[in-house]
Amino acid sequence: HEEFTKVKNIATIELGRYEIETWYFSPFPPEYNDCSKLYFCEFCLNFMKRKEQLQRHMKKCDLKHPPGDEIYRSGTLSMFEVDGKKNKVYGQNLCYLAKLFLDHKTLYYDVDLFLFYVLCECDDRGCHMVGYFSKEKHSEESYNLACILTLPPYQRKGYGKFLIAFSYELSKKEGKVGTPERPLSDLGLLSYKGYWTRVLLDILKKHKGNISIKELSDMTAIKADDILNTLQSLDLIQYRKGQHCICADPKVLDRHLKAAGRGGLEVDVSKLIWTPYR
Ligand code: COA
Ligand code: NA
Repeated sequence: HEEFTKVKNIATIELGRYEIETWYFSPFPPEYNDCSKLYFCEFCLNFMKRKEQLQRHMKKCDLKHPPGDEIYRSGTLSMFEVDGKKNKVYGQNLCYLAKLFLDHKTLYYDVDLFLFYVLCECDDRGCHMVGYFSKEKHSEESYNLACILTLPPYQRKGYGKFLIAFSYELSKKEGKVGTPERPLSDLGLLSYKGYWTRVLLDILKKHKGNISIKELSDMTAIKADDILNTLQSLDLIQYRKGQHCICADPKVLDRHLKAAGRGGLEVDVSKLIWTPYR
């Protein structure tokens, strides 16, 4: 199978102040086949073979943030929405970059159909990309996220859970439930399971009286299947008189919450200024 015989071509990339070792093959255009290191402009994501080319580029590139609308700002964190149709080259560059850290994804180079939500840490030099997720403009399967990436130097700091939380906040604003596109990577699944567990169990802890999967789904925009699977995997679903029943013993919930890890960075919804794509 052709997909499995492709070997990693680009071993390292330079991006902003980081040199990053890559994880997987990415299908850069053939003229880049002969190099093992690529130099990215951290703002427009154009990539070059030589450091001098990048240095020359940086003198004339006047972008200081992703080429889209800033839809969220809280402290030094900003989120930009980039339309793949209006910014095709940027969208493609982002896909090439992301594939270096994604094993199984067939990337859609038809970037027209996607929106890219790019998370940045901002300072006086500009807005530096930390990670992103992509989202189909119209999804038949109610996907609210296609690909998610935290760049390796920023991983394990809560940005992944921030991006996941953000994708559900957008779904809430759309009045829809959402679910990530499958398959998820091991790290992707771990992050989602942590997020789902924390969000659902926090509600169960506070809630008094009965609550249904449907109600949980309405409150969180998490798809009912994902809620059922999460609660089942934690052994919190019991079957009584032919009906599903959610166990809400506070001690049990606390134990699971502790195991689900840290909460990650919070999305402050009051700082999200966004209207759904149409
Ligand atoms: N080892 C063990 N657990 C890990 C882990 C690792 N290297 N990285 C993440 N996790 C788990 C942990 O449970 C972590 O929570 P904790 O730190 O509170 O214990 C949780 O996932 C999320 O951590 P967080 O810091 O919010 O996520 P992140 O910023 O590291 O990003 C991904 C998570 C999945 C986006 C990131 O690993 C990534 O970009 N991977 C490559 C691309 C990919 O696989 N994307 C998903 C498929 S589309
Ligand atoms: Na995915």
